[in-house]
Amino acid sequence: MWSYGGSVPGLTFETRNGQGVLVEWVNELPSSHFLPIDHSLHGAEKDKPEVRGVVHLHGGKTPPESDGYPEDWYVSGHSRTYYYPNRQDPALLWYHDHAMGINRLNIYAGLLGLWVIRDSVEDALHLPQGKYEIPLVLMDRDLRPDGQLSYPVSADPDRPWVPEAFGEAHLVNGKLFPYLDVEPRKYRFRILNGANGRFYWLSISEGAEMVQIGSDQGLLQAPVAVKHLHLAPGERADLIVDFAPHRGQQLTLQSEALELVQFRVAATPTPDPSLLPATLRPVPRIPESRAVKTRRLTLDEQMNMVAESMGMLLNKTPWHMPITEKPVLNSTEIWEFVNLTDDVHPIHLHLVRFQVLDRRRFDAFEFMTTGNLRYVGPPLAPDANELGWKDTVRVNPKTVTRIIVPFAGFAGRYVWHCHILEHEDNEMMRPYEILPA
Ligand code: C2O
Ligand code: CU
Ligand code: CU
Repeated sequence: MWSYGGSVPGLTFETRNGQGVLVEWVNELPSSHFLPIDHSLHGAEKDKPEVRGVVHLHGGKTPPESDGYPEDWYVSGHSRTYYYPNRQDPALLWYHDHAMGINRLNIYAGLLGLWVIRDSVEDALHLPQGKYEIPLVLMDRDLRPDGQLSYPVSADPDRPWVPEAFGEAHLVNGKLFPYLDVEPRKYRFRILNGANGRFYWLSISEGAEMVQIGSDQGLLQAPVAVKHLHLAPGERADLIVDFAPHRGQQLTLQSEALELVQFRVAATPTPDPSLLPATLRPVPRIPESRAVKTRRLTLDEQMNMVAESMGMLLNKTPWHMPITEKPVLNSTEIWEFVNLTDDVHPIHLHLVRFQVLDRRRFDAFEFMTTGNLRYVGPPLAPDANELGWKDTVRVNPKTVTRIIVPFAGFAGRYVWHCHILEHEDNEMMRPYEILPA
């Protein structure tokens, strides 16, 4: 695998709110790639070096020159020093490669890691901490019989791109079906879906209760008990699990029939000074009236003559076209994602955090033929665990998903994209630009 700092996931950054961090990201990768590059994809043409990288901090409120713009890649023997101000609420962020046209391969190769931000407000909650707070990075990979990573290819050797890549090896923190010895007390699990394209539908065996306390951009207003937890690529969840009722048992964190990690609960009772407070951190809902603009943005799939996917687009516009989304710094906008495809797409915006307003079914055929958006159901409120600040949102098929976004932080050029990496690499990504106020 390729890694940041010698392990996959890469080393974890433990940081505090307001404490800026400078990182020099040094590219020491070999000069040829070991996964199948598709030179027909924009940004990965034959005249580009095979191995290129650039680092993005997902969820970071990062100035544009340090955000890892996909075209700002560099090759082995070079480095970039990026500045992360960390002026944002405590949350589990993650950093990963973002190189144009080969991002799915670089991340698959192992270029991802965690970045935790903390603050004194969170400290004062006395959530489980230290060895009782455990990150769980979920991802799937395929392996060849000799144990090497294998990435799927299409039937066309000149265009090996595939619309999604799933693996049969389900890794947690880079390990196959690991186990964890736990004490019968509360633990805090900080979960990232770091997979290229797999969605997880998590639960714990024996009916063990999961209580979600946070999502992508930090703590929820109040804990939410969840039986199942849906996690799309790029999304994070902060969970409290109390093993006290399960002394002596072996529990499994699973995604439907897939077993991900086993918890072996000790038999002897143990004191538990940690708390699960009834309220966590205020998350005031943004009134829709604050939005100065609503943008309607479609998610489109292009099919060839034999109904094979040729790739996805945002607003029917490929990456290289001029920037069309130019919100003004410190203004708030509503973005409505009109999903014309049959897939769920996790849509992520760089720099900002947002709130999910609602999801609503519409008649996609009518929209595609006449341009008229006719709803065929009532607006559905987001799930209780989606009421916190988010940076990635599931946009369901044939559904309009609305988010409300304060464009705060920095003026400059950023990107938004689908976080299914195969889609992102094949045109399901667009630049956007925040204009100075
Ligand atoms: Cu996880 Cu463009 O990011
Ligand atoms: Cu990001
Ligand atoms: Cu997608």
